[in-house]
Amino acid sequence: MSPHIPSWEPLSEAVLSDQLGTYDRMRSACPVAASPRGVTLFRHADVVAAANDPVRFSSVTTLRRSIPNSIDPPEHARWRALIDPFFSAERMAVLQPRVRAIADALVAGLPRHTTIDAVAEIGRPLAVRAQTDWLGWQGTEDRLLAWMAENHDATRSGDRERTGAVAAAFDEIVGAQVERRRFGGAEPDDPTTELVSAHLDGRPLDDAEIVSILRNWTAGDLGSVAAALGVIVHFLATHPEVQQELRSDPSGLAPAVDEMLRIDDPFLVNRRVTTETVRIGDHELPAGTRVYLNWASANRDEAVFGDPAAYRPEEHAPHNLVYGTGIHVCPGRPLATMELVVTAGSLLAATSGIELAPDATPARETYPVGGWRHVPIQLR
Ligand code: HEM
Repeated sequence: MSPHIPSWEPLSEAVLSDQLGTYDRMRSACPVAASPRGVTLFRHADVVAAANDPVRFSSVTTLRRSIPNSIDPPEHARWRALIDPFFSAERMAVLQPRVRAIADALVAGLPRHTTIDAVAEIGRPLAVRAQTDWLGWQGTEDRLLAWMAENHDATRSGDRERTGAVAAAFDEIVGAQVERRRFGGAEPDDPTTELVSAHLDGRPLDDAEIVSILRNWTAGDLGSVAAALGVIVHFLATHPEVQQELRSDPSGLAPAVDEMLRIDDPFLVNRRVTTETVRIGDHELPAGTRVYLNWASANRDEAVFGDPAAYRPEEHAPHNLVYGTGIHVCPGRPLATMELVVTAGSLLAATSGIELAPDATPARETYPVGGWRHVPIQLR
């Protein structure tokens, strides 16, 4: 018989006030822990194994079909074949100067020697402006910023009605963009138009499919890019030697950014559901168990990284799980990395120093997000 799975309360005050510290302690004490929400996997090896076993760890965790996030094999591969080319290296190279212009303008407008919040004044506006420019949704920036704030609060509240209303509000923003291209005579040359005219297995996508894909390109990711920038700016401000090194040689920014996000991963978990009995260490999880892959914990596993806080970009890169692994590995990684590298590069190029503000304290984010809620800094 399988030993009892230890329990924990991921949404308790004690856990929320120190998420990373709790994950570190849980990981060394037990590979899995259960709460009424499901069973969490904390260790790198278990998270990697589950993510690479989509047959026994299904992504069909809700009734709401989400493309490609909640699709299992073999159908999943057909959707990824349609989606992945939108993030090709060639397309990112074309987009890069536009993101650079957005980041340069944002950074140029920031005051110097005055306390600003890197999440609210750099992360969120950059994420929204870059995303709307990429998708051809100019003019929706304010609605998206307001939506991000409401989505964040609704998700935290756990109130189903509220999260449902937020999802519907988002579908309306996306739906209007699709409609403009389908019936409004507007066919701007952008990825939204391309998606509206895309085919799968020789048939055009229907509106629900297009909206679902666009929701997953936008809704989940605006928040991740904004939160990632908070983590990066905080790391630079608290590691002056790394900041100096990257000022002198910004060519190392891509692996540096990945490593900063590994140490403090803003994208905490993804869900799966077991399709048969699976073993994790000595524990047996019956079919139908809801499982959380805890990327933030796996990314700090001492068994793989030694000291979780040690900054070693090259050495840790092969085991970095910030963008997941397996068939659902993040297709948006090239876009996210480009936006993060370009923005960090703009900040370093246009300033001589990034420091934590002397008159305010950074505040941590809490589940379902990691990283920082506020990062008060001063630019020199
Ligand atoms: C710092 C920013 C980002 C982080 C940390 C991140 C992280 C992740 C992770 C961990 C997964 C794996 C999910 C799973 O296994 O269930 C994922 C999947 C996904 N990401 Fe990202 N992501 C980021 C940005 C983006 C962007 C910019 C886009 C698109 C514009 C994007 C689109 C997606 C999609 C569509 C999936 C689902 C893929 C599938 O199910 O096959 N992500 N992301």
